[in-house]
Amino acid sequence: MSGVRIEAVAIDGPASSGKSTLAREVARRLGFIFLDTGSLYRAAALALLSAGAVRMAEDDPEVVRILSSLDISVRPDPSGARVLIGGLDVTDHLRSEEVGSLASRISAWPIVRKTLFDLQRKLALEGRIVMDGRDIGTVILPEARLKIFLVADPEIRALRRQKDLEARGDRRSLETILADILDRDRRDRERLLSPLVPAPDALHLDTSRLTIDEAVTWIVDHYR
Ligand code: DC
Repeated sequence: MSGVRIEAVAIDGPASSGKSTLAREVARRLGFIFLDTGSLYRAAALALLSAGAVRMAEDDPEVVRILSSLDISVRPDPSGARVLIGGLDVTDHLRSEEVGSLASRISAWPIVRKTLFDLQRKLALEGRIVMDGRDIGTVILPEARLKIFLVADPEIRALRRQKDLEARGDRRSLETILADILDRDRRDRERLLSPLVPAPDALHLDTSRLTIDEAVTWIVDHYR
């Protein structure tokens, strides 16, 4: 792609491909800000759950009202960005399966993507940022100097996810986790708006058999 390049790294990939772990460490090594954009979709889901929206449907007037007045903001922090709803820090409430599952559903809704686009675009254009998500290289920041598309075998992603959940005291069978990962993959790839596809100029990185350090070094070396 020709034109202006922005000093930023866009990391896209499917659920549990290691995006946030790698993005956080790449940002630390480059001295950039790190933003996991999935946390914004999770914040929108949390806002709906907290408001007690009963019928989680895109055309429900209550849902439209909550989403139209959504006030999500981001505060940079060395450990990653903190996410605020109406000025209240909700970062520590975004990782549950309930929030993640609703986030996956509502991320296909145009009203949600439109609401979150401006916030992401503004942060992206400031540069010196590593953003991870599904559509960073294609929609949010096609001008990023480096775009990475991560892949990893579904079984390996399921094992990693099981370990993460176990560390938080949540024990689940590998079959359940794998089924959920495949379901999210399908939803991410098949949605009409901003589906999960690599940007034409993205570099593909398969993390299945790489350590975190190997993958981070590969990305940082390509950036430099
Ligand atoms: O990466 P994650 O699981 O925290 O993301 C939560 C949901 O948000 C995920 O199911 C897909 C969606 N998402 C998206 O559609 N676009 C992004 N840039 C980031 C996340």
